[in-house]
Amino acid sequence: MCRSLLCFVTLLVTVQLVLSYFPDAWEQDCKKENGYDGDIGDLNYTDPSSVPRPAKCYMACFMGKQQVMKPDGSIDFEYAKKLYATVHKGDEKIIRRFHWMVDQCAKEFKKYTDKCETAFYYVKCKREKFDAYKE
Ligand SMILES: *[C@@H]1O[C@H](CO)[C@@H](O)[C@H](O)[C@H]1NC(C)=O
Repeated sequence: MCRSLLCFVTLLVTVQLVLSYFPDAWEQDCKKENGYDGDIGDLNYTDPSSVPRPAKCYMACFMGKQQVMKPDGSIDFEYAKKLYATVHKGDEKIIRRFHWMVDQCAKEFKKYTDKCETAFYYVKCKREKFDAYKE
């Protein structure tokens, strides 16, 4: 995924920015609400059946707070793109990458049985597309 040190550092800074942009309380509230206290970065996305339901519902909760997931459980892709542009303002390269990622996931999007599944598969898609991006 990251073959160079520069890429790795960029990724770390990016993750840091995203984490500090959204209130800590969102994460805490959503974890408490869903009885999840893991790190979604540690999940095995290639084996969806191994991912605990509370982790998926935590994602849905967090995306709801971001307003990326609408109350009806659908995903607002345009809003997601706006959010990436705001959070990463000034870094056109990473914005292009995130926007491409959202567009790809919007194309492949399917509605799942409920919000938690929808949120999980959207996050899974984003991770795959983020890695697959070619500049
Ligand atoms: C994740 O799941 C896949 C598919 O079941 C498996 O092949 C792989 O070994 C798992 N990875 C880890 C880190 O457990």
